[in-house]
Amino acid sequence: MKGIIFTYLEEFVIKNAGIEAWDTLLETTHLKTEDGVFVSPGNYPDEDLFALVAAGSKNLNLPMNDVIYAFGEFVASKYHQDYTDFFKPGMSAKTLLNSVDKIIHVEVKKLYPDVHLPQFQYEDPAPDKLVMKYFSTRKLCVLAKGLINGVGNLYNEKIEISEPLCMHNGADHCRLELTFVKK
Ligand code: HEM
Repeated sequence: MKGIIFTYLEEFVIKNAGIEAWDTLLETTHLKTEDGVFVSPGNYPDEDLFALVAAGSKNLNLPMNDVIYAFGEFVASKYHQDYTDFFKPGMSAKTLLNSVDKIIHVEVKKLYPDVHLPQFQYEDPAPDKLVMKYFSTRKLCVLAKGLINGVGNLYNEKIEISEPLCMHNGADHCRLELTFVKK
């Protein structure tokens, strides 16, 4: 996983639990990356990210999925700050999400050629609906749902998400069915 995701995790932990919590997390988690020093363009083992999230949720006594989901929401707000070009004027949550696979992640791949991105396939059954079929060996549909909800927050839209198919239940992808409700 790219270093930028780790630097967002660091910011997320410091914002919610303080700098000491981040230091303790680094000291008490067995990481492959020496000293837990992550830089944005670097590539680091996924295991390190999962180990930090697992240790953090244990410390906070929160289910790991709740932490990953909240992190996804936080990352959406960071993308909005750091990658302003992808958020074009006049976009809605739906048009932004519809552009992730064919525009945003394509540009991300140009920025970071060694990145390992998920794939999305889309269905557009109605003006207030979008289906995102999520494919990734990382099976991070919870992160995807947090990101989607975070995008909704950016556009002041509520997005209801149902997941009738999930890789964690043996499907070959996660089917995320979204309904957009103006707040
Ligand atoms: C400006 C917007 C976005 C940028 C710059 C961006 C960039 C990235 C980057 C750098 C990674 C890390 C991949 C790696 O380190 O190997 C990533 C992963 C990911 N992105 Fe995006 N992304 C954006 C929007 C979104 C949105 C809106 C979604 C909504 C579903 C999304 C879904 C994901 C997921 C689920 C992953 C985790 C990796 C995986 O599942 O394999 N991204 N993205």
